[in-house]
This record gives sequence, C-alpha cells and structure tokens, in this order.
Amino acid sequence: MAVISISPEELKSPSQTQEREWCAELEAGDILYFPQTPILIPENDLQFLLGQQQTDSSLHKNIAYKPNIDKLSGVDSKTADAQAVARLQGIMRQYSKSVTAFLTDFLAPYNANWQLDYASFRPQEEEGRDLPQRRRNDLLHTDAFPTRPTYGSRILRFFNNIHPTRTRDWVVSDPFGQTVKQFVPAEIAPLPDSAISRAAKSLGRGMGLAAAIPSIKRSPYDDFMMRFHNFLKENPRFQSECPKYSFNFPPGSSWMVYTDTVPHAVLAGQYALEQTFLVRPEALVTPETSPLAVLQEIAGSSLL
Ligand code: SIN
Ligand code: FE
Repeated sequence: MAVISISPEELKSPSQTQEREWCAELEAGDILYFPQTPILIPENDLQFLLGQQQTDSSLHKNIAYKPNIDKLSGVDSKTADAQAVARLQGIMRQYSKSVTAFLTDFLAPYNANWQLDYASFRPQEEEGRDLPQRRRNDLLHTDAFPTRPTYGSRILRFFNNIHPTRTRDWVVSDPFGQTVKQFVPAEIAPLPDSAISRAAKSLGRGMGLAAAIPSIKRSPYDDFMMRFHNFLKENPRFQSECPKYSFNFPPGSSWMVYTDTVPHAVLAGQYALEQTFLVRPEALVTPETSPLAVLQEIAGSSLL
C-alpha cells in the first residue's frame, strides 16, 4: 500500500509503459496523488462552492450529480434557490467533464472503457458527523453501492480537496486481497443464489428501500461486496486492529483510488469534489488483482 505522488512535470508526456504502470498501481491498491490538482476549477466556481453548506447533516451524505442524465440530487430544496441550484449543476457538469477528459488521457490503457457514474460535492465537516453506522464514512470500509450493482466493474474514484486551508484526513488499510483473507470463509462466504434474493430483500428493508426498490437485481459478487462493506463497518476488532496508514490530503490536491479495493475512512475535512467511474473488468491491466478475481479464486466458481 503506497501513495504515489505525481508532479505536473510527470504528466506532460508519459510513456505507454508509465501509463500501464499507473493503472497497475491503482489496481493493486495504491493511491495516485497529485499535490497540485490537474483539474481546472475556475476561482469564482470555487468561491461559490465554499459558500454552500447543507443544513441537515443527517439528511444528505452529499450532493450527487448524475452526469448521464444531467441531474442533481441531495440538494436542500427547503432553502436552496433555483438560481443557486442551476449554478451548482453547471459547476458539477463541468467538473465531471474535466475529470473525465483528464482520465481518458491519463489512464490511456483503459481506453475509457468505463461507465461514468455519479459525481459528488461534499460540503460538510466530516469530523463528528452523526450518521447511521452503515453510512458512516469515518469507519474503514470498501465501497459497494446498495442500489447500483457493478457486476464486476471496479469503483474508481477521483477526489479534489477544495478547502482553502484544511487537509482532508484519510486512513486506509491493506487492499482487498489481503484484508479479505483474514476472515474465516464462513464469516464472509458468498451466498448461493436463493439466499441472495433473501439477503437483498432484508438489506433493502434494513435501509428502508424495500418499498421503493422491490428487487434489486445483483450478482453474487455484488451481494458479497455489499455485505463486506457492512461487515467491516460493524466489526470493532477489524476497526481497531487492522493495519492503518494515514494520509492528509492538502488543500488544492487531488487523488484517486479503487475504493472497492482499498479500505478507507475519512476522519476530518470539509469541501471535496469527487467523480466515480465503474471500470469494466476487460479494461484492467492486471485483472488477477481485482476483488472479483480474488473472490472467484476463494469460491472456486464464477460469481457473476
Ligand atoms: C468515502 O468514500 O468513504 C468518503 C471519502 C471522502 O469523502 O473523502
Ligand atoms: Fe467509501
């Protein structure tokens, strides 16, 4: 587990070998870190974002932007005025486009073989947030989305710390392949198909989603990843005893990481932007390191 710092110089004309190496490092569970963000965010947009604060911290984890339908969600409609919402939407649209353009180039070996997922704006102080256990971000976890199964695509996230003065403080642990092997198979075993639909239903109920989403179709892989996310957050021994590495990302920096692979937690910080990509399995340069491959080896069968 390493943080690999990439300077503006190194971005200028990387060799194909270097580009493949960056992909391989990400896939293995390293964090690629840009001390100076490669994403241009106009100064007046930054000032607008820094002026925003959500009122009810338990209602919305963050504000999501869905690039494929150009929609914002999670906006505080009681207080936000239409003009501010439109401005925020425009800023998020541009952020999403800029990150996509940068990564299309920077991660050239992937050939943009990904699905563009949500972007988010995180205006709240992360320290001391009062959230239900499974939604807490200050507990180490690997990411999985309750309503968006990936079928083996990997969750790549790109972050900007836009706070003018404060760091965004993360703790991470050893990557999925190492972490998952500490647990006895019975604790985390993939479920047979019939049990998955039962588990999906009870998961939906637990999250209050049963009515809105009667049946989320997910693969055994997605089911496992969702349960593993919960299992890690709900496991005090893992939280206290696992190896921990701290990184405080400075203002104005960016970083990216496969968050389905690297257990992570954010302990403090305020004001971040983020864009998620679901990278298809066939795009990976070292598919054998993916959580899907690791789990299929343990299970001895396909999990899709
Ligand atoms: C998370 O993905 O758990 C949150 C990371 C962050 O907001 O810094
Ligand atoms: Fe996360």
